[in-house]
Amino acid sequence: MRIGVPKEIKPQEGRVALMPDHVARLTAAGHPVHVEAGAGSASWATDRDYAEAGATIDDCGADVWGACDFIVKVKEILPQEYGYLRPDHVLLTNLHSASNPGETDALLKTGLTAIAAEDTHRFGSPNCALAGEIGAFEGIRLCLAPHGGSGRHFFGHFGSPAMRVLVIGLGNVGRGAVRTTLGLGCSVTGLDINWGARYKAEQDYPTRDFTTAGIDALPDLLPHADLIINCVLWPKHRDDHLISRANLKDLRPKAVICDIACDEAGAVETSRPTSWADPIYEVDGVRHFCVDNIPGAAPVAASAGYGQALMRHIQPILDKGWRQACQADDWLARGLVCAQGTLIHAETARIQGRDHVNVAEYLKD
Ligand SMILES: NC(=O)c1ccc[n+]([C@@H]2O[C@H](COP(=O)([O-])OP(=O)(O)OC[C@H]3O[C@@H](n4cnc5c(N)ncnc54)[C@H](O)[C@@H]3O)[C@@H](O)[C@H]2O)c1
Repeated sequence: MRIGVPKEIKPQEGRVALMPDHVARLTAAGHPVHVEAGAGSASWATDRDYAEAGATIDDCGADVWGACDFIVKVKEILPQEYGYLRPDHVLLTNLHSASNPGETDALLKTGLTAIAAEDTHRFGSPNCALAGEIGAFEGIRLCLAPHGGSGRHFFGHFGSPAMRVLVIGLGNVGRGAVRTTLGLGCSVTGLDINWGARYKAEQDYPTRDFTTAGIDALPDLLPHADLIINCVLWPKHRDDHLISRANLKDLRPKAVICDIACDEAGAVETSRPTSWADPIYEVDGVRHFCVDNIPGAAPVAASAGYGQALMRHIQPILDKGWRQACQADDWLARGLVCAQGTLIHAETARIQGRDHVNVAEYLKD
């Protein structure tokens, strides 16, 4: 297969699917790789680095998509890219197809094989940790007085209390948020419905100002927090919320909500995804930071981690073909969105009201 790495065209997205060292491993094994000129520039990977790794550098995205049958990317397929799709393409990228009906239509109509990278990470997405770490950092910045926040310092100097932070959800993202906030000296409470997640987080920080609690404690804790960081993926069928609009009046003046999960009207009723170009908005006097591609702010580390995670799946697809690779690895199969015009992704089918064939059924010999 000929592997293609187009430049990401989503605004403010600086990540690239493969770094030069990943490409070098592929070309050394005899697999041709095409990289679009400038694809790695925001990740400090130059065209020359890729050429030295054995890649062919193509001038534009159309050339990469045209020359290759295995396309690896970071973000979903945008309408400007629909025209490049071909039935023989195998696509591995963060598709988020459940919330993108237009994209789902384009993939099904083309009849290509599409795998949602975000569903294939057995050990958690490498970019989730970065989202938690960077999102929390930005939340702390917004708490400083010149940025409109409470003005509390993150360290508890001179007897004044340290910034009070609530981290809701202690998964991959939440643990990243805890790392940053505790690392900077904040007083942190982590909330989770899963006792095991709380227990694990507590074991990691026995000497810090860190406590955990069940989610029932949220209403009592909300009025005392300078910064509330939501890291709970909200099921799309739920229409209740952990923090409703009515709860906003209970918050401290100038408190900040940093919603890293950023599901529209999800765990936080008043959340909607934003971008780095326009990251913050205010509802009832409470600032919300809801950027939906936070790791894009640190593309060098984010690309390195993402490429490393993709390589685990690229190699088996090259060795066996996508179908056998999915049959051999449940985690890769989890990401299968569609093939030959058949929708396979159960969540996309449920949310968009489409017919689908169960993944096990589809992969049966
Ligand atoms: N904004 C971004 O750039 C960005 C980047 C990566 C991930 N994300 C999003 O961050 C979210 C979290 O991802 P993750 O990998 O940490 O998920 P995860 O599944 O690893 O962790 C979620 C945690 O939330 C807990 N939880 C579930 N329901 C809860 C509830 N009602 N109350 C309290 N806790 C609850 C779970 O027990 C789990 O520990 C996802 O929505 C993901 O899409 C956003």
